[in-house]
Amino acid sequence: MNEVLILNQEEVKEILHLEKAIELVEECYTEFNENKSVIYPAVREIVDEHEGIFGIKSSYLIGDKMIGLKAGGFWKNNMARKQKMNHQSTMVLFNAETGEPTCLLDANHITITRTAAAGAVAAKHLAKKDSQTVAIIGSGVQAKVQLSGLLHQFSIKKVYVYSRATEAAEQWVTELINQGISAENAQEAVVNADIVVTTTPSYTPIVKTSWLKQGAHVNAIGSDTKGKNEVQMDKSIDKVVCDLWEQSSIMGELQHGFAKEFLYAEIGEITGLVKKGRETDEEITMFDSTGISVQDMKVAAYVYKKAKKEGIGQIIKL
Ligand SMILES: NC(=O)c1ccc[n+]([C@@H]2O[C@H](COP(=O)([O-])OP(=O)(O)OC[C@H]3O[C@@H](n4cnc5c(N)ncnc54)[C@H](O)[C@@H]3O)[C@@H](O)[C@H]2O)c1
Repeated sequence: MNEVLILNQEEVKEILHLEKAIELVEECYTEFNENKSVIYPAVREIVDEHEGIFGIKSSYLIGDKMIGLKAGGFWKNNMARKQKMNHQSTMVLFNAETGEPTCLLDANHITITRTAAAGAVAAKHLAKKDSQTVAIIGSGVQAKVQLSGLLHQFSIKKVYVYSRATEAAEQWVTELINQGISAENAQEAVVNADIVVTTTPSYTPIVKTSWLKQGAHVNAIGSDTKGKNEVQMDKSIDKVVCDLWEQSSIMGELQHGFAKEFLYAEIGEITGLVKKGRETDEEITMFDSTGISVQDMKVAAYVYKKAKKEGIGQIIKL
């Protein structure tokens, strides 16, 4: 019988911290660009009757001899109606040599953390080193962790948050408002920002690129499904970077008529030093994140190995 390690959310949280995730996500981007991993086509489908989006993302880490998948998605009413997270996901890891499952783990914390890490890695290479002002659009789970990721890399002095609603789960925004640093509207948040982060599930643009100041960087995080659109590109951007063109052009910001010839790079080309990141203080840059499977797998492989070594989790025989 085959032994499978089961890791619940608390156990994953105990092992995985943002600082480590930033390091792993940077590595996984570079490794993918160097053909040290393989990403399989992603599934992303709308479940109309339950207002959900179901997806499967899978990949193969050649060096780790691990194949795996993350299944789940985004149910937009979970938090409001059921006090459950809108994002729901689970991962299964397999031994690449035999196909046997090795680990089943909660992936909600993995998704949150690897996405925060993606924003931090992109900003490290594309934003101005002395960035001080951040505009966050949206105030949910990603808004908060994206800010944490940036605080790891930059000396941020001012944060503007613009969101459609201040819900119960968004206490941290109320705190920011009380400190006088929220914005009345998206434009007010964006115009003075060195780094703009969009984190909403919007299907209608909220931010226009013509609002960006010289030298600004945008991390477009929210668009990860066909139809979603947070950023209206009404003024061209000097360097547009994505995580994976095959995904960005279908489910990311770049699905809305953006031609591949205008893409500057995939992020792995920049982390792998094949192409330069930011070169001047004036250029305007943008990173379109759709979330790629090697981010999940790289982080999950680390969690699995550490849990095994430290005797964390439960083993079942399949
Ligand atoms: N790129 C990736 O790898 C990745 C990873 C995780 C999540 N996501 C995507 O990021 C988005 C946000 O995820 P989350 O977990 O933070 O969701 P969430 O529900 O916790 O937060 C969404 C926030 O957006 C706000 N919002 C919605 N529409 C708005 C609008 N038109 N204007 C201003 N604010 C608006 C909501 O009030 C809420 O604060 C989703 O689209 C999700 O699918 C992407």
